[in-house]
Amino acid sequence: MVSKVASTTNPNDSATGAVTSNRNASFTAPGVSTADGASVVDILQERLSALIDLGMTLKHIHWNIVGPSFIGVHLMLDPQYAGVQAMVDTTAERTATMGGVPSGLPGFIVSTRTWDDYDLGRADAQAHLGALDLVYRNLIKGHRGAIEATEQLDPVTQDMLIGQTAELEQYHWFVRSHLEDYAGGLSNAGAETEVDAAKASMRKVASTRSGRSTAAEASARSGR
Ligand SMILES: [Fe+2]
Repeated sequence: MVSKVASTTNPNDSATGAVTSNRNASFTAPGVSTADGASVVDILQERLSALIDLGMTLKHIHWNIVGPSFIGVHLMLDPQYAGVQAMVDTTAERTATMGGVPSGLPGFIVSTRTWDDYDLGRADAQAHLGALDLVYRNLIKGHRGAIEATEQLDPVTQDMLIGQTAELEQYHWFVRSHLEDYAGGLSNAGAETEVDAAKASMRKVASTRSGRSTAAEASARSGR
């Protein structure tokens, strides 16, 4: 790592002695035009940034969950993080294979991403799951968009993205199963922000708990 002052130097500047470059290579995968290869690289970098962000968000939730469901959700997120880290590596290496220069640097990701940081800090597991549902929803939408965009450009990259999406959608199902009721509804239905999704999920927990205590009181009154 270098100081902030030194890092402002343009790496493509001839004054740096031409030791580094962020330009695409002169080659890409055989049979793919360099123009198509460059388009694939751009798509892959966007998905790489999204996957890195998702991985760190999963750990953030893993660390900040509280409440009665702590241990189950805390442990559920570790294999999801590991799976996403494997996708990060595969996506970055595919980018390099296509002639690109993959970046996983925090400053680059923050300056180029089109979304904000995850909104919750310490919160009940159910609140985090309500918000994480939205995170997965957006990430999977992005992956499905990339699948569509690579259909003609590069079916090999598309195949990688399809495999990742199947795994991501399974992780998303694990999360949603905590929000789903017997009729198939979701506790955070209609919420468009992470905070609203978290609040809706907590309201559902509160109403379920008060329903249970009302039933218990009625049962006690009837002597059963
Ligand atoms: Fe841990």
